[in-house]
Amino acid sequence: MATETVDTTAEFVLSEKVRKEIDHWLEKFPEEQRQSAVLAALHAVQQDIGWLPENAMDAVADYIGMPHIAVYEVATFYDMYNLKPIGKHKITVCTNISCMLCGSDKIVEHLQQRLDIKLGETTSDGMFTLKEVECLAACKNAPMMQVDFDYHENLTPESLDQIIEKYRNDK
Ligand code: FES
Repeated sequence: MATETVDTTAEFVLSEKVRKEIDHWLEKFPEEQRQSAVLAALHAVQQDIGWLPENAMDAVADYIGMPHIAVYEVATFYDMYNLKPIGKHKITVCTNISCMLCGSDKIVEHLQQRLDIKLGETTSDGMFTLKEVECLAACKNAPMMQVDFDYHENLTPESLDQIIEKYRNDK
């Protein structure tokens, strides 16, 4: 999913779809624990616009009734949240212990060369963003990576090339 351009200097208005989704989660928690809905709320915003600018996090904080800083703490703790705009496809390579022992460093190196970007960057055509993540619970088939919501396992340089081409040609 490509990210939307957001005016980060203006007040951010949560869409009706996002407010409905947050309300859905708020109903699941006691009133005094509204902050428990923050993960789902941030996810809903990210699904809507592709990333989490600061003013959108502020809007989530105000809607739930939490200090802004508490929302930033959550958003910066988890790799799944995009704090910058990302490309059309987000590639997250696991470099945790099983994947590291099975050559994740070679996978990262190959992707960086192939895409001509470093970890944390987006290709100039806006197609791919490359990130490093902690264990994604597919250790049995290490090394692995996630592209958008799909897992790709038992990676080799050859399979990586095929996967990248598939996403590149996917209109
Ligand atoms: S260590 Fe890579 S999926 Fe668990």
